[in-house]
Amino acid sequence: MHLTNEEEKVLAGERGEVPARSMRLLVKLGDIYGAERMIPVGSAQVAGVSYKSIGDPGRDFLEDYARLGAKVRVPTFLNPAGMDIEDWEGLRFPKRFAEQQLRIMEAFRKMGIIMSASCTPYLAGNLPRFGEHIAWSESSAVSFANSVIGARTNREGGPSALAAAICGVTPDYGYHRDENRHPHFQVNVSAGLGFSSDYGALGWFVGKVVKDKIPHFTGLPEDAGTDELKALGAAMAASGAVALYHAEGLTPEARWARKEDLQTVDFGDRELEETYAKLSPAKDPDLVVIGCPHASMKEIARVAALVDGKHLKRPLWVCTSRVMKEAARRMGFAAIIEKAGGRIVADTCMVVAPIEEMGFKTTGVNSGKAASYLPGHCKQGVMYGRIEDLVEAASK
Ligand code: F3S
Repeated sequence: MHLTNEEEKVLAGERGEVPARSMRLLVKLGDIYGAERMIPVGSAQVAGVSYKSIGDPGRDFLEDYARLGAKVRVPTFLNPAGMDIEDWEGLRFPKRFAEQQLRIMEAFRKMGIIMSASCTPYLAGNLPRFGEHIAWSESSAVSFANSVIGARTNREGGPSALAAAICGVTPDYGYHRDENRHPHFQVNVSAGLGFSSDYGALGWFVGKVVKDKIPHFTGLPEDAGTDELKALGAAMAASGAVALYHAEGLTPEARWARKEDLQTVDFGDRELEETYAKLSPAKDPDLVVIGCPHASMKEIARVAALVDGKHLKRPLWVCTSRVMKEAARRMGFAAIIEKAGGRIVADTCMVVAPIEEMGFKTTGVNSGKAASYLPGHCKQGVMYGRIEDLVEAASK
């Protein structure tokens, strides 16, 4: 790899131990994937934040980095943590867990990382521009940034995103390069899609087929918006490892992506129905969670309208970023949801929170990504449904 003079100095340890370690990791990655140079990144987003995911070894690693004076050089945001950082007691998160999570957050804060723990940084203060190189690690955010915005990032791991944040660069390979952004599959959608959960089901189905390749969609409704596209990308990133998709008329690179020799996938009403059935083996959830990826203001408003005047019998969480939670409070949506018995939960989600330790066994979701992960990561039975079905289930 060709390094600039400054990058050579960082590698040689002239800028300190942590930058040298970080640059070594980036050079190694670049060598493995055949990068010829480093490229500057506009922002980083670091996964591996929840104590549930990283445990004591991850906490010790981060505290060690902070003690050694690690500092990020570009705006850096965090993936969801294991709990609502400000309201963990009210939500009854275990105290021992909370103590460890707070130590992790403090280590990140010392490094200069922005204390926003969300999988939708693009809705909460970090919106990259088209073509901008970034180093993000949350798979659903990677998909959204690459596909819907047209920014450029690989699916970084937590350590490589942190290394990029500390050095301000990432190796130039994979999705950073034009030649790797063309589709391999043509997905013809004829199913009638209306709800976010329909897009989640489509994404789950397609991710299983295409795995880590790039699909190009035709037939998606032309009014598919941010919420629908984030649900689609998140599910494909979870059931497969899709980091980039194109959708005719909806995503910016679809028009000039090369569409030759593509394998074909069809998704009609039958596939939609069968996917719902597969994703929903359980009924009667003891917890209902909306907001995977983290809920937008539009989604929070929708939940508020649906629960207004109801008395929920089971816990209902709306997971979102701190920014959205605060705005929802000001708009009065939080009060409506709380009056019905639900909660707006910031900084975390049902997958990275210790919900199994909190006694929950079956979770109701409208997210293809959550439905993929909950059985394995959280030992949950899953009810998969439209937002209306979930509110009804929480009311029984
Ligand atoms: Fe976000 Fe958690 Fe879903 S990180 S994408 S809400 S599994």
